[in-house]
Amino acid sequence: MPAHRIAVIGGDGIGPEVIDQAVRVVEKAAAKFDKAEFAWNKLPWSTSYYQQHGHMLPPDGWDTLAKHDAILFGAVGNPAVVSDKVTVHELLLPMRRKFDQYVNLRPAFLFAGVPCPLVGKAPGAIDMLVYRENTEGEYAPVGGNLYPGTENEIAVQTGVFTRRGCERILRAAFEAARKRPRKTLTSITKSNAQVYGMGLWDDAYLAVRKEYPDVRSSSLLVDAAAMDFVRKPETFDVVVASNLFGDILTDLSAAVTGSIGLASSANINPTKQFPSMFEPVHGSAPDIAGKGIANPMAAILSAALMLDHLGLAASAAGTRDAVAKVLAEGKVKTPDLGGTATTTQIGDAVLAAL
Ligand code: NAD
Ligand code: IPM
Ligand code: MN
Repeated sequence: MPAHRIAVIGGDGIGPEVIDQAVRVVEKAAAKFDKAEFAWNKLPWSTSYYQQHGHMLPPDGWDTLAKHDAILFGAVGNPAVVSDKVTVHELLLPMRRKFDQYVNLRPAFLFAGVPCPLVGKAPGAIDMLVYRENTEGEYAPVGGNLYPGTENEIAVQTGVFTRRGCERILRAAFEAARKRPRKTLTSITKSNAQVYGMGLWDDAYLAVRKEYPDVRSSSLLVDAAAMDFVRKPETFDVVVASNLFGDILTDLSAAVTGSIGLASSANINPTKQFPSMFEPVHGSAPDIAGKGIANPMAAILSAALMLDHLGLAASAAGTRDAVAKVLAEGKVKTPDLGGTATTTQIGDAVLAAL
């Protein structure tokens, strides 16, 4: 089997710290379970690269990325130095759109050994897959400013919802729900307030659900959903939401399953016309960057989603099992989970558990 070509963008802050551990784990898991090999292409695109070159990636950067089988991404953003308007808006968000990675899959699972901030939740009790629309909606780069800096300043930020865009993310979520034991799906909107875009989403939901009579589905307003993610997260199975609502709800689903340091994500182009991208849900965490204490498990679990996407299911399952074992044993934990272990020690423990 030829080596899988992976572009690696560590980015800023804890991004490179956690991605280093993910690369180590993937190497070993794939060699052991699937006899697979990797050709890693480390790309230095980050805030410091921007400071040196005046752009987040070189002019042929998108062509370079397109030649890979997948992209493993840490995080970008160092807002004290360069605005997110540059770092995030020249690299991360255009990547999702240019490569039409319209499915942002964000699982949330309460692992054994992880303290849950909610009382009385057994391991595995919270087990949801959030399908976040990833190319349009509230993140559409449409809008502008008039009279900046004056007291007459007007800013317009337009949400763009297309029938095709709504239907395709809903269909991806229904397909996933159909394959899960509970076969349950919740569609999140705010169509009581935002009648146009969210109204179109609701119409698309009502049309697509007809194709899935085997899936029990319902619609929930995002404010009530935020409450229920805390009050009764165990009731959710597959959740499908717009770009912004999916973003916010997945920091919440990460928190109720113990830590954002465990939250993984896949930005998938299901057609495989362009590479998909795998990254933790968290950002560059400037508050802990450089201290060597970031939890690398979110990055490792994101790499497991990449292994699934590459068809290396045994390696993916082996990686998840190794993470679950380290968490269940509870001997090494980073500070976000109440321990004192370093990022590298967690990488070592996951490697040993493989
Ligand atoms: P953040 O996710 O970076 O951090 C939020 C909090 O979670 C911080 O207290 C941080 O220490 C903690 N945390 C995050 N990851 C952790 C880990 N692996 N282990 C332990 N603790 C962890 O969010 P923020 O502070 O709002 O954003 C910081 C920067 O990152 C901003 O520039 C933002 O735009 C950017 N960002 C980038 C991405 C991305 O590139 N995918 C995602 C989110 C935020
Ligand atoms: C995420 C991040 C990004 C998003 C930011 C950095 C624009 O929060 O991946 O969750 O909102 O999508
Ligand atoms: Mn986010």
